[in-house]
Amino acid sequence: SSWWSHVEMGPPDPILGVTEAFKRDTNSKKMNLGVGAYRDDSGKPYVLSCVRKAEAKIAADKLDKEYLAIGGLAEFNKASAALALGEASEVIKSGKYITVQTISGTGSLRIGASFLQRFYKHSKDVYLPKPSWGNHTPIFRDAGLEPKSYRYYDSKTCGFDFKGALEDITKLPEKSIILFHACAHNPTGVDPKQEQWKELAAVVKQRNLFPFFDMAYQGFATGNTDRDAWAVRHFIEQGINLVLSQSYAKNMGLYGERVGAFTVVCNDVDEAKRVESQLKILIRPMYSNPPMNGARIATTIMNIPDLRKEWLSAARGRAHKITIMREQLVSNLKKEGSIHNWQHIIDQIGMFCFTGLKQEQVERLMKEFSVYMTKDGRISVAGVSSSNVGYLAHAIHQVTK
Ligand SMILES: Cc1ncc(COP(=O)(O)O)c(C=O)c1O
Repeated sequence: SSWWSHVEMGPPDPILGVTEAFKRDTNSKKMNLGVGAYRDDSGKPYVLSCVRKAEAKIAADKLDKEYLAIGGLAEFNKASAALALGEASEVIKSGKYITVQTISGTGSLRIGASFLQRFYKHSKDVYLPKPSWGNHTPIFRDAGLEPKSYRYYDSKTCGFDFKGALEDITKLPEKSIILFHACAHNPTGVDPKQEQWKELAAVVKQRNLFPFFDMAYQGFATGNTDRDAWAVRHFIEQGINLVLSQSYAKNMGLYGERVGAFTVVCNDVDEAKRVESQLKILIRPMYSNPPMNGARIATTIMNIPDLRKEWLSAARGRAHKITIMREQLVSNLKKEGSIHNWQHIIDQIGMFCFTGLKQEQVERLMKEFSVYMTKDGRISVAGVSSSNVGYLAHAIHQVTK
């Protein structure tokens, strides 16, 4: 008698499901380290002051609300490409690329995946690092590609499995698509070093693989947007025509504004024009054109020198605070009497830390201490502050001693 009686209850989202459980918890000491969102020192969501200033300027300018173009705000696309590829980029100077505005990083990955599904004729297989951000598999699968994996994380060292990655990548069928996290790998917090990136680029070139870079944390790894984009720029300098997703969710704290970009590096200007036309044909029936508010904020910040300076300095400050929190967590664990080696917490980079906690320990942390994280033991260090780092260390020690 119902149209939908056959629809089964689906599982909660592994990351957003943690937030839901956290919200239901009434313990005043509760901590949500599941979702990757930056918090101030008292654990509250935080809007950058450069964002507030950009919003005030936009409001004062009384801009209209006409539709954006299908590919979004032109100045935003220009500034995003320059942020990623560098002001002096040859690709930008020669116009051998196309950037379109997207619905944050997720939308960018999805547009990219759909573009590859439609036009990349050599393979439908996309190789993801193991593990990767939980949404990569469904994004590529739903777009009609076949997600597969290459070795990335070594659970023995809680570090990068360079040997395993290189072995796997060397054996990939030629022209396969391979996804790289540009910096601050999620969920592991483990990035290749520059020398390792050089070897990875060489193998990608030699095997004629097609790289898809996901850069959701530019500025959040080292605190320097140029340094964080090093791998992307290095691949391009090697003559590798890659595609790139960008997000302003984390580095500008514009999570809910949903602002991001998708870039295709092309052989020449004519190819870039043709690719642009097809990206528009993909976007138009999906959502017609992207929302304007976040793009205006990001563009205002990037294009007004004082605001840009303030933003870049805030990025350095936040990366620094994350480093301090990593150190404080380890020193508090030692103070608690923990005898485990927690050095990886300090060595990993960016917003996330793969603690190495087992699923039973994670469950105890949630039940007994109201400390919420994803089942794989990943914590968002951006959610740790000087006021709760002691409690977190205590809780972790209780479940690991
Ligand atoms: C690796 C990675 N890519 C992309 C995203 C996209 O996020 P958003 O759609 O909020 O920009 C995230 C967010 O957590 C991420 O961790």
